Amino acid sequence: MVKSGNNSNNEKKVFKPNYMLVEEAHVKNWEAEIEKGKDIEKYWAEKAEQFEWFQKWDKVLDESQKPFYKWFTNGKINLAYNAVDRWIHTDKRNQVAILYANERGDEKKLTYYELYREVNKMANALKNLGIEKGDTVSMYMPMCPELLVSMLACNKIGAVHSVVYSGLSVGAFVERMNDAKAKVLITADGTFRRGKVIDLKKIADEALLKCHTIETTIVVQHAGNPIHMSELSGKEIFYETLLEGEPDECPVEEMDSEDPLFILYTSGSTGKPKAVLHTTAGYMVGVATTLKTVFDIHNGDLWWCTGDIGWITGHSYLMYGPLLLGTTTLVYEGAPDYPDPGIWWKIVEKYGVTKLYTSPTAVRHLMRYGSKYPTFYNLSSLKILGSVGEPMNPAAWMWLYKNIGNEKTPIMDTWWQTETGMHMITPLPVSPLKPGTPTLPFPGVDIDVVDKNGNPVPVGEDGYVVVKKPWPAMFRTLYKDEERFVNVYWKDIPGGFYRAGDMARKDEDGYIWIQGRSDDVLKIAGHRVGTSEVESAFSSHPAVAEAAVIGKSDPIKGQVIKAFVILKEDYKLTTKLISELQRHVRYELGPVAVLGDITQVDKLPKTRSGKIMRRVLRAQEEGKDLGDLSTLEE
Ligand code: WTA
Repeated sequence: MVKSGNNSNNEKKVFKPNYMLVEEAHVKNWEAEIEKGKDIEKYWAEKAEQFEWFQKWDKVLDESQKPFYKWFTNGKINLAYNAVDRWIHTDKRNQVAILYANERGDEKKLTYYELYREVNKMANALKNLGIEKGDTVSMYMPMCPELLVSMLACNKIGAVHSVVYSGLSVGAFVERMNDAKAKVLITADGTFRRGKVIDLKKIADEALLKCHTIETTIVVQHAGNPIHMSELSGKEIFYETLLEGEPDECPVEEMDSEDPLFILYTSGSTGKPKAVLHTTAGYMVGVATTLKTVFDIHNGDLWWCTGDIGWITGHSYLMYGPLLLGTTTLVYEGAPDYPDPGIWWKIVEKYGVTKLYTSPTAVRHLMRYGSKYPTFYNLSSLKILGSVGEPMNPAAWMWLYKNIGNEKTPIMDTWWQTETGMHMITPLPVSPLKPGTPTLPFPGVDIDVVDKNGNPVPVGEDGYVVVKKPWPAMFRTLYKDEERFVNVYWKDIPGGFYRAGDMARKDEDGYIWIQGRSDDVLKIAGHRVGTSEVESAFSSHPAVAEAAVIGKSDPIKGQVIKAFVILKEDYKLTTKLISELQRHVRYELGPVAVLGDITQVDKLPKTRSGKIMRRVLRAQEEGKDLGDLSTLEE
């Protein structure tokens, strides 16, 4: 299939599949599998058979109300049942489900049976707090087993979880909690980060002053951090106290295939963050199938996804995917370079990790320390590596391939999004690889690169990434905002296609080379950050009249923020004010908002309707042609 590696990045080499992996692979013939996937309904229906259903579906795909697609209609199923309960009647009963480790060297193991009992206790406790099917529960927690237990407990009783990434701070947290109207918040006394404890409870307390829907706050005593339990917003209770005496059996809620499973906030180009809503059955089918196929999961694997549970990567591939496949998932709490940049490799050696899924930004970060650290450890347990979050530049790909994979382990560069729920463009272990491209759409997924009229672009030309047919793990809507769902994703390009918001090119083998976002969304260390969110954080500071932000490229983080601010009269951009603004934005948004530099300006380029033309700022910054300025105000 692959003729040559000739492409935009001039990376010529094609890496052939490792024949040992091909032999044991679930999918041995890529082309044949893609061919099979062309009958989308048949393909995904077959995959849905892997689960235990309380009631089978009537129809695989209901397209009667496009773009509000439904999958596996009238099916009855429960995710927690399939991810946990199902395994306790098998020989996986006493296998480790969750292997937790942290930067201090602590570890905790939960077998499937232990997890089952813990989930049931938590589910019963949530019910006692008045949580019913369809209610929302928010979590603001470290990477700890209790987070996974809480999410599964929600599934078990049909509650909808909304996890807020613990790296987000007060402003972002309040906005997300109020939007989701959560009744219960689960948080912790702290999280470990580079030898320090970050007091999550303190941030939660501040946020709770502005959230009035929370009736109960549950606090996990995780970091041994002395905290203040207050009565500010309803009841506060320790997790352990709450679970005391709860029965370790709990009836399973039979969920409809299309019942909401979770909400997860992500940044868009305008306005408030988008509340992406995923539903039950299609998500399970999509996530479990892609993980099993792309990373070729077998009995005996030890799976490590380094992404945080607070992002979609953690939801789909740290927690749900591996547990639905009955594998062991490693949950690691800590930074990649603390206490030293060999820590990840030490973990791989200590536990014998077989499949490692990480991000380009983490690889670039570790690359800085050279190739010394990986040589201190035996990494021979590794069979497949993977990456997600932003384009994997060929240099980072090669570094990972050589230093970590010993030129034996293929790298699965997976392209997907919060909205897609599952891998969409990705190689399989049997695919010939070219560093820098996620290759072809996953079987059963129909993706193309098109122009603004929806026609496929010729080889080598830029176009928009669109998904042409529905896929099972697709988000179903933006929570309480169907209009925005339709307008943002389904209207721009004719043909009823889903517009992903990325630009890409195809090479002569059809491989897709992602070029980056086509909208005003930044990718900072793989995290999605909306320009408008950062701008409103700036504008909420008393010195700032108006702000515009763009992405500035950064060798490690991919992008950082470059801000242009108009200050109010009597203010000057002194070093003191710069650091104050930095602190302020960090307080509002958290450490994800990495500021490059701040420049003071008198005016911002705007359209006549008052929209900031960030494109012009970007072109100016990069010394490029300013392009069409006909819509500029003056
Ligand atoms: C980018 C993360 C290039 C892309 C799972 C997408 C990638 C956005 C890749 C979604 C990849 C993700 N190569 N770019 N392999 N994976 N992206 O919602 O711009 O946080 O639109 O989901 O990340 O980010 P999100």
